[in-house]
Amino acid sequence: MSSADRPQGPPTQTYDSAFLKACRREPVPHTPVWFMRQAGRSLPEYRRLREGIAMLDSCMRPDLVTEITLQPVRRHGVDAAIFFSDIVVPLKAIGIDLDIKPGVGPVVAQPVRTRADLERLRPLEPADVSYVTEAVGMLTAELGGTPLIGFAGAPFTLASYLVEGGPSRNHEHTKALMYGDPELWADLLDRLAEITASFLRVQIEAGASAVQLFDSWVGALAPADYRSRVMPASVKVFEATAGYGVPRIHFGVGTGELLELMGEAGADVVGADWRVPLDEAARRVGPGRAIQGNLDPAVLFAPREAVETQARSVLDAARDLPGHVFNLGHGVLPQTDPDALTRLVAYVHEQTAR
Ligand code: CP3
Repeated sequence: MSSADRPQGPPTQTYDSAFLKACRREPVPHTPVWFMRQAGRSLPEYRRLREGIAMLDSCMRPDLVTEITLQPVRRHGVDAAIFFSDIVVPLKAIGIDLDIKPGVGPVVAQPVRTRADLERLRPLEPADVSYVTEAVGMLTAELGGTPLIGFAGAPFTLASYLVEGGPSRNHEHTKALMYGDPELWADLLDRLAEITASFLRVQIEAGASAVQLFDSWVGALAPADYRSRVMPASVKVFEATAGYGVPRIHFGVGTGELLELMGEAGADVVGADWRVPLDEAARRVGPGRAIQGNLDPAVLFAPREAVETQARSVLDAARDLPGHVFNLGHGVLPQTDPDALTRLVAYVHEQTAR
């Protein structure tokens, strides 16, 4: 995305933020930092606020969503907020019977495995998630010049929860459907692409400054299968969210072998986990995309000096890249010391101040 794509109308307050500049591959005052899962269990103020309130209920309360989203921004001084929600919220909103079980993750009452099951996946209307529109509006007012990142789960990752019925190590039911009934699989992913695209558009139209498509579990696939059986649905999501002048970030775990294809799928920024150095990740993603990542979240359990050494090597690998957004290679682990995160933000800012 270039400045020429900037939408007509008054510039938004966040346009000149370091985060959006890095997404556009423009020079930055410092390397911007945010963390996947920065809101959540690593913060005592989050655990207090969530006491007695189920995860999905909290996602439907704009007052709670606003407060939880702001907590890490206040505490750590990160360069962007990420909207507090979950990838399964749009599925819940269209009437899929599911819950988020503490310490487990999303659990679906009736897995989606047949053509008849597919009929339960109706399109998502903005009115189904009016609490999201409301919370994004409240947040952008509070955040001022700090960008808000909206997000959604990518079709493959959502399909994995729906088909397995819950979290899965090997995605065996998902792959059984993908190889066993390619037509049903393609229709499933296509429906999920529509739902995901509407969920992202709701957040963009309510004022989100960027969006991230989480394809967390797509690293389970070989490139040829990704290309033919999954990528078309993700491409559809990026096409449906183009033209807003809002950067789209594309992230997955274990995607070393998929980065070239993820670069082709249409995002403006591609996130990498810690297994591939960022200069090599950028080479695989190809020109014209910014890069996000990629400190191993487990490194935060090491002593401060070791964290800084590892963060330094991420910055060194990204030194010649126009457009680096510092992040972890996956989400903040629940037992992480929040002070280690605060120190890391300060370290990256200080090391990269220009
Ligand atoms: O700070 C943020 O990043 C914003 C909030 C956010 C949540 N989920 C809140 C949440 C985001 C961006 C997500 C995305 C999400 N949800 C992904 C993609 C990111 C990734 O980690 O790869 C996935 C795969 C999910 C599905 C999901 N929801 C899982 C695996 C879990 C963890 C289960 C557990 O308890 O360990 C959830 C629940 C969840 N989503 C929590 C939070 C803060 C924890 C539940 C709680 O606090 O009670």
